[in-house]
Amino acid sequence: MLLTPLIEKKRDGGRLTPDELRTLLGAYMEGTLAEYQMSAFLMAAFIRGLDPEELSVLTRAIIASGMRLDFGDGGAPAVDKHSTGGVGDKVSLVLAPLLAEAGLRVPMMSGRGLGHTGGTLDKLEAIPGFEVDIGLDRFRAILDEVGCAMIGQTEEIAPLDGRLYALRDVTGTVPSPALIAASIVSKKVAEGIEALVLDVKCGRGAFMPDAARGHALARKMVDLAAAEGVRATALLTRMDAPLGHTVGNALEVGEAIETLRGGGPADLREVTLALGAELLVSAGRATEVGEAATRLATILETGAPLGRFARLIEAQGGDPLVADDPGRLPVAPVQVPFPSAGAGWLDIHARLVGLASVELGAGRRRFDDAVDPTVGFEFHRAAGDQVAEGETLVTIHAADTSGAATAANRLTEAIEVSDEPIPPRPLILERVGDGVPAES
Ligand code: URA
Repeated sequence: MLLTPLIEKKRDGGRLTPDELRTLLGAYMEGTLAEYQMSAFLMAAFIRGLDPEELSVLTRAIIASGMRLDFGDGGAPAVDKHSTGGVGDKVSLVLAPLLAEAGLRVPMMSGRGLGHTGGTLDKLEAIPGFEVDIGLDRFRAILDEVGCAMIGQTEEIAPLDGRLYALRDVTGTVPSPALIAASIVSKKVAEGIEALVLDVKCGRGAFMPDAARGHALARKMVDLAAAEGVRATALLTRMDAPLGHTVGNALEVGEAIETLRGGGPADLREVTLALGAELLVSAGRATEVGEAATRLATILETGAPLGRFARLIEAQGGDPLVADDPGRLPVAPVQVPFPSAGAGWLDIHARLVGLASVELGAGRRRFDDAVDPTVGFEFHRAAGDQVAEGETLVTIHAADTSGAATAANRLTEAIEVSDEPIPPRPLILERVGDGVPAES
């Protein structure tokens, strides 16, 4: 079959038959369709969209490109959560040990920072010695021993997604609901889980700017997962300001530890408990989300999930003592206070903070950039707070004084102090569950 006409068909708004799409994707995997041709196809799919059948064929092709793990061994239900990407989002670090403590198994396959958003793997690697590239045998063994394990994408699981994702990242084709849905759901299905919760971030710091688009993406993913035999629910959560008080890898690990100790910021706790409750219900370990959230909150109070996190760190080669003493995490050499320019009510723009943190070195500008685990922002006040002129709003953690000065300039754009109070906005916008027909 000639391949270029298939790209042209999608470019012109046509739909590819299952055979055509499978042929195109197969040729790409075999190397007979070039990267530039796949880039053109991705852009055509980004602009024209994929219909439900195309989406299902793409998802299945990604799953079939690698192995599918199987945890149907009669043990604890295997579950996972996935976020579409946010700023200051350290939920996974808290949720995985918390759910393991609640009796579930959490084989978590996470990503690195993307654009202005942070990634769980980069955060974990801020823990001295922590290895995320541990191979599937060790991953399974740690999961058996600790109840949770965290790895990055491997060559063995969904390798087609790894290649497509790298192309999308550099061709402006990430924020497509269809491509995001296929990418996320395929990886989660291949992990062998039975229940999934999706944290669909919506707002100015998210890839989906508004709840309407977030809803459409959530609906697509929930239906796609259900078609592959995975019970999924999604929560649309607000991502206008960073989640929690820290942005930056080691700083976020410190905040996750504080939360695992039973403290931590209220917004981080709220999102973590709500997502965890969905999984307890989907896995059949609770009948109702309110009761499930209360149970998880009680477990968090005991501090036991922190011990579980220490075991996970040790099993993955890291320094488990950071759980008791976050002072062992790497620290930036330069710390500079950022004062409020005026008096009034604080607003914090998540995307601009995310971009500023990437510029500081907490994320990557290029795929092969190294990440500095120490740098980032520590917010002393939250969005919506009333603040006084001159009070310290943020501590900038930087590698040097020039990096700190640039970050301070960026913060002047990211932080607004207005004369009017900002009306409180709910953090959890909507729940999308099964039972509603798919939209095209
Ligand atoms: N996360 C993923 O894994 N894939 C996407 O396409 C976007 C966010």
